[in-house]
Amino acid sequence: MENCHLRGVGSIAFGALTTRSKTDARKRRYAPLLAPFNANVRRHEMAYPSSDAVVILGTSRSDGNTLATVNRVLSGKPVELVDLSEMDIGAYDYEHANSTDSFLPLIERLVSKSLWLLATPVYWYAMSAQMKLFVDRLSDLITIRKDLGRSLRGKAVAVIASGTDEGLPQGFEAPFRLTCDYLGMRYVGVFYLQFGKDDQPVSANAAEARAAGASWIA
Ligand SMILES: Cc1cc2nc3c(=O)[nH]c(=O)nc-3n(C[C@H](O)[C@H](O)[C@H](O)COP(=O)(O)O)c2cc1C
Repeated sequence: MENCHLRGVGSIAFGALTTRSKTDARKRRYAPLLAPFNANVRRHEMAYPSSDAVVILGTSRSDGNTLATVNRVLSGKPVELVDLSEMDIGAYDYEHANSTDSFLPLIERLVSKSLWLLATPVYWYAMSAQMKLFVDRLSDLITIRKDLGRSLRGKAVAVIASGTDEGLPQGFEAPFRLTCDYLGMRYVGVFYLQFGKDDQPVSANAAEARAAGASWIA
């Protein structure tokens, strides 16, 4: 799987059990385990309905490569998208001076969704500043809005990333994974797409993107 990286994904999409035989059902149930990408699949996890997922886009170019990567992953599935660049979200403040900006109302919306797809370009070997502000502000949820913080428990988080290097830099996933661990959220993996200088994907890996999307979203 050249130029495309999907790790730590664990999901099994269950269809309705109607007239098909048990054997067929079993085959269908475990088919995603044989998917042709190198995924660290965990059993007993399900893909989420698209209505229960939300994309949180943090980039300096709202219609750029990261959005193109998101669109490849979603492959036409209707998923709500929040563009952090359109929101008034200030930096974390120890005195909570920014507590009346858009962050807390945004979280109040996001807690209704079970799967958060955090979409970010790689900027200087790390997540974008927009995404980092969002992550920093999660601190509000363990200080002034612990009620909201508790409601994050059990939610799933996947990362969609774009960049120009062949793969993600070492340690790129760590802040996402560790933040999820801290908040009781479930980190389910990352999909990375490499772009060239012409802003075109380096390889045509629509199938892998679709596979990532299908493993997260039913
Ligand atoms: C400020 C800046 C820093 C970047 N740093 C990296 C980097 O460290 N690694 C990388 O692979 N690409 C890097 N890139 C390239 C972008 O990640 C890549 O073009 C990405 O697809 C852009 O997504 P966007 O259109 O959503 O901004 C950088 C681009 C910018 C503008």
